[in-house]
Amino acid sequence: MEIRHPLQKCLFPVAGLGTRFLPATKDIPKEMLPLIDRPIIHYGVEEAVSSGCRDIVFVTGRSKRSIEDYFDRSVELENLLERRGQLGLRDELARISEMARFAYVRQSEPLGLGHAVLCGEPCFNDSYFGLILPDDVILSDQPVLGQLAEVHESLGGSVLALEEVSWEETSRYGIIEGNPCGEGVFRITNLVEKPSPGQAPSRYAIIGRYLLSPAIFGHLRSVRAGAGGEIQLTDALRALLAEEPVYGLLYRGTRLDCGTKLGWLKATVTLALHDPELRETILDIVRKEECND
Ligand code: UTP
Repeated sequence: MEIRHPLQKCLFPVAGLGTRFLPATKDIPKEMLPLIDRPIIHYGVEEAVSSGCRDIVFVTGRSKRSIEDYFDRSVELENLLERRGQLGLRDELARISEMARFAYVRQSEPLGLGHAVLCGEPCFNDSYFGLILPDDVILSDQPVLGQLAEVHESLGGSVLALEEVSWEETSRYGIIEGNPCGEGVFRITNLVEKPSPGQAPSRYAIIGRYLLSPAIFGHLRSVRAGAGGEIQLTDALRALLAEEPVYGLLYRGTRLDCGTKLGWLKATVTLALHDPELRETILDIVRKEECND
């Protein structure tokens, strides 16, 4: 009988180069670009913490120091805010470093997502863990990682978050083949990476939230690197599902893909429209621009 552990740890691979966002990401990590008043990475960490995670592990690389600084205390800044009487803001800053316990591992060369996950292995013993790709910011009543944890608690195994995409979009995602086994839940039988619409086995795409068995590390070690020396997570997941159950869940929520300029812009406007303090100002700007056209 498989022992199901409560979800305690979450891995964030943040060592990618962010080439789709150049030149902005030449010197600033993509994860540190702001969405309203917080960096993109903050949203993912908040989701992991509200799903029950107490340990956050970042796989970082060169020029990512600002992520470490962001989740550490800034005593100087806190003292300054205290002297100015801005105690609310001081406490808000202090809370960032207290959200969880943070650890950092380096990926010395960006050899792909699979390789980045493998770099995190020393921080995970034998327990299931969350994996969040922070580009995907998700608005939802229940945090998506928490939704995956619920499926894991009732069925065991690994669980991947799925979204139904159009046939035209299948070539941008890993697509699953599987059998329904509950409301919005599939037992996955195969995965195809970025299939053309004619080759796609379904329209269920894997997005940036996973709850993974520690057995994934062994598979990541044995899958062969593809073009450019990259190790693909999808290849390791395919090997995993031949040995252990892997489920997919159509998550409940709205995904904002912040990995591209247009996606980030849409996310910023969407969040501003959801914010009662900003909504009217944003609508005013758009109305004025429309009148000027
Ligand atoms: P992406 O596919 O979005 O790559 O990686 P990227 O480098 O961040 O961005 P582009 O495509 O060049 O614009 C998905 C996630 O995996 C991490 C990224 O930081 C991102 O969170 N990643 C990717 C690594 O940590 N290491 C890698 O070698 C590749």
